[in-house]
Amino acid sequence: MRIVSITEHPILEIPFLNAGKGPGAFYTDRLPVHTGEVSGLPGDLEALLATADLQGRERFQEANCGPQRLLGEALPERLCSELLPELNLDPNRTGVILAGDFYTVPNLDKRGGSGDVLPVWRAFAESFRWVAGVAGNHDTFGNRDEPTRNVSGNAHYLDGNSTNLDSLVVAGIGGIIGYPNKLHRKTESDFLTYTELLLDQLPDVLVMHDGPDFPANDLRGSSNIRGTLERFPKTLVVRGHSHWPIPLVEMANGTQVLNVDCRVVILRRAQ
Ligand SMILES: [Fe+2]
Repeated sequence: MRIVSITEHPILEIPFLNAGKGPGAFYTDRLPVHTGEVSGLPGDLEALLATADLQGRERFQEANCGPQRLLGEALPERLCSELLPELNLDPNRTGVILAGDFYTVPNLDKRGGSGDVLPVWRAFAESFRWVAGVAGNHDTFGNRDEPTRNVSGNAHYLDGNSTNLDSLVVAGIGGIIGYPNKLHRKTESDFLTYTELLLDQLPDVLVMHDGPDFPANDLRGSSNIRGTLERFPKTLVVRGHSHWPIPLVEMANGTQVLNVDCRVVILRRAQ
């Protein structure tokens, strides 16, 4: 699969509340939504939607006096009722890639809190054809680090493995490089070994929360993950965790890296 185009400017910006440091320090932020075109999408799919790092909550006026849902829990409803019809896309023919980090504390008074992202996965799974994704370094599933069983019949949690969805091979590695005694951390050596093992299977998409850097544009990430990716045939990597001002780069071997940290990208079938 190749991304053949992506809009430079968002087609929509969705307001949400971002956490601040301390009580009442939250503020309104905007989630950009980009569209693009991808070649090589299997026949049953019209589009892929990818997102990560939705570490915020819906606004008070959208919560109907109830508790404010996580941004990623509220988002599928809004996308399916407003945006997808405008784009003439059917959610039942759209697959979703989740690249991790979907939690924010309920009071929005602390940045980088960890917690349960099952409501986000379930909301996407209920609204779209399927979901495949990985954990971010702040994500728990219920009160566990990983889901004990399938989140739902059409939601596929990946960590060092792959799944075949509509003839699309989606591989995934969760978490970040770090001390493995903390939530969703792997040693660099383990992270690179998983990367090699999955790239050996020639996946159509490799989802990771951490990911490569891109020094030519001063974009943050791991140089050793980049080095590993460049030793294998080209593929499409979807990553989160580090915000890049641009969503897409292409590495020396032709591998494309789509960074969806705090953005939504909807890739429709290339004409
Ligand atoms: Fe992260």
